[in-house]
Amino acid sequence: MEIKSIGILTSGGDAPGMNAAIRAVTRTAIYAGMRVWGIYRGYQGLIEDQIVEFQTQNVSNIIQQGGTILKTARSMEFKTPEGRKKAYENLKRHDIDALVVIGGDGSITGAANLAREYDVPIVALPGTIDNDLAGTDMTIGYDTAMNTIMDCVDKIRDTATSHQRLFFIEVMGRDAGFLALNGAIATGCEDAIIPEVATQYDQLKALVDNGFRKSKSSAMVIVTESPEGGALKLAERVKKEYPEYDVRVSVLGHLQRGGSPTAADRILASRLGFAAIEALKEGQRNVMMGIHNDHVVNIPFAKAIKKDKPIDEELLTVLRVLSI
Ligand code: F6P
Repeated sequence: MEIKSIGILTSGGDAPGMNAAIRAVTRTAIYAGMRVWGIYRGYQGLIEDQIVEFQTQNVSNIIQQGGTILKTARSMEFKTPEGRKKAYENLKRHDIDALVVIGGDGSITGAANLAREYDVPIVALPGTIDNDLAGTDMTIGYDTAMNTIMDCVDKIRDTATSHQRLFFIEVMGRDAGFLALNGAIATGCEDAIIPEVATQYDQLKALVDNGFRKSKSSAMVIVTESPEGGALKLAERVKKEYPEYDVRVSVLGHLQRGGSPTAADRILASRLGFAAIEALKEGQRNVMMGIHNDHVVNIPFAKAIKKDKPIDEELLTVLRVLSI
C-alpha cells in the first residue's frame, strides 16, 4: 500500500529531542510527497480528534527546543479497546494511512495494541530519558538528561565537600538504572544504587562497608527513584544505622526532563526521524527505529518493550574502582 499521509504524535513523558524528531519526520515525509498531520496530546488527542495538518513551517525553529510542540499525555482511555476504536476512527476521518509514534515503553505498547487490532502501519521512535528500550544503544533525550544530571551533581559536590557531607541524589529512570549509573561515573560519585541489582544484595550496607569508612571528606551516591522511597528512604536508614554521618538528600525531579537537547540528541532524533519515513516507504510496520554501533536499525515492537535491556555490569566495576 502506498502511504500518502502520515500522522505524528508524542506520548508519555516528554524528552529533549522530541521536537527535533517531529521536525525530521515532518520534513522527510513532505519531501517524499506525503501529507502530514500533527496529532496533539498523544493518544488522548487522537481519541479527541485534536489533529492539524502540518506544513514545513510548523516545525521551523524547534530543533533546539526542549519539550514537545505537539504536547503529550498519558492516556488511560487509549488502554481500552473503546478508546483505540475512537482513535482508529479519527485516523480514518483524516485519511491518515500510517502513524509515527514518539515515546517510551508505554507509548510503544499502545502502538503495538493499535496495530494488532487495526490495520495501521506504525513506526515508533524511542523518546525517553530513561534509555530503557531494548535494541537501541540510546533513546532520544537520554544524553541531554545525563548532561543535566552531570551539571547538578557537580554543583552539589561543591557544597558536599565544603560541609563534608554524605549526599544521596535521586534521579529518574523508573525501573532502569542507566541515568544513575552513568551519571555517577560522569561525576565521580562514590556509588550508584540501581534497580537492576536491588534484589541481589543490600546495596546500602555494601556501600557503607566498602566506601564511607575510608577517610573521604565527602561522599555522593546517585540513587534511581523507586516507589519504595528512593533516596529519602535510604537517607533515613543511614541516619538511624550510621548516626556519625551528616546526611543530605537532593531529588533532581523533572528538571531532568527539560532543557535544550544536546548535539547528540538532536542528531539521533534527526537520523531516526528520517529513517522512520524511509521505513514506512519500504513497507515496514510495527518497528521501532533505533541506533546500534552508529547504524540505524529496526526493532520489532515486541522486542523493544520486552524489558531486557541489561546494565553492563562492568560499568559498576568502573565506578567502584575509580572512586577508591
Ligand atoms: O519515563 C520518563 C519518566 O521521566 C520516568 O523517569 C519517571 O519515572 C516518569 O517519567 C515520571 O512521570 P511523570 O512526569 O508523569 O510524573
